[in-house]
Amino acid sequence: MTVKSTNITRVQHRMARESRWAANSHSGGVLWLTGLSGSGKSTLAFEVEKRMFEEGYQVYVLDGDNIRHGLSSDLGFSPEDRVENIRRVGEIAALFADAGSVVVTAFISPYRRDRELARQAASDQFHEVYLSAGLDVCEGRDPKGLYRKARRGEIPEFTGVSAPYEAPEHPELTIDTGELTVEESMQVLLEYVGRAFAGPGRTKARGALGG
Ligand code: ADX
Repeated sequence: MTVKSTNITRVQHRMARESRWAANSHSGGVLWLTGLSGSGKSTLAFEVEKRMFEEGYQVYVLDGDNIRHGLSSDLGFSPEDRVENIRRVGEIAALFADAGSVVVTAFISPYRRDRELARQAASDQFHEVYLSAGLDVCEGRDPKGLYRKARRGEIPEFTGVSAPYEAPEHPELTIDTGELTVEESMQVLLEYVGRAFAGPGRTKARGALGG
């Protein structure tokens, strides 16, 4: 990453990330959901957040539609703006992870390179989850009526219609949200979460996710 400022020096925290993990009884990290609009990102993100919270996890969702009302309110959907949107989210997610939380992100994040940069920001704490429902399924669902508008030419650069989506090549997890029900998808995700963020002192009693 290029850094514009000069005369800046990194400063170290006084405690190791493992100390934060021990305090939370789980490791921190980024659960990066990617997929087309309508593939189930927000649905799964907010449901997994609720269930993890109930199990005592420090967990928080960053969701595309919400972030675009605040942090990214100056950005649209041009390729450059999407790059910048995902850059900001990737950096913030890495900070959350470093602070010891599990952050679940729900962004289309259509470009492979941008997801790779987000991965680098969070290094070994990054988990890419591809919700692989295809365009036909997502467009058939069209929960917000956006595909219909996009086909009528009312939304320019709409992902899957008039803008690209680059599917992950080596995601940590793929969930076929075109075939599985929400609850079935949740079980796959929870089972993964239980393994990915298992930390010191997390007993079955306080971490029965996916069980
Ligand atoms: S991303 O491409 O930069 O990752 P992000 O996830 O933040 O996108 O926002 C996608 C959401 O914005 C979609 O779920 C949809 O509701 C809305 N949206 C509005 N215009 C577009 C568009 N042109 N392409 C894709 N999504 C759009």
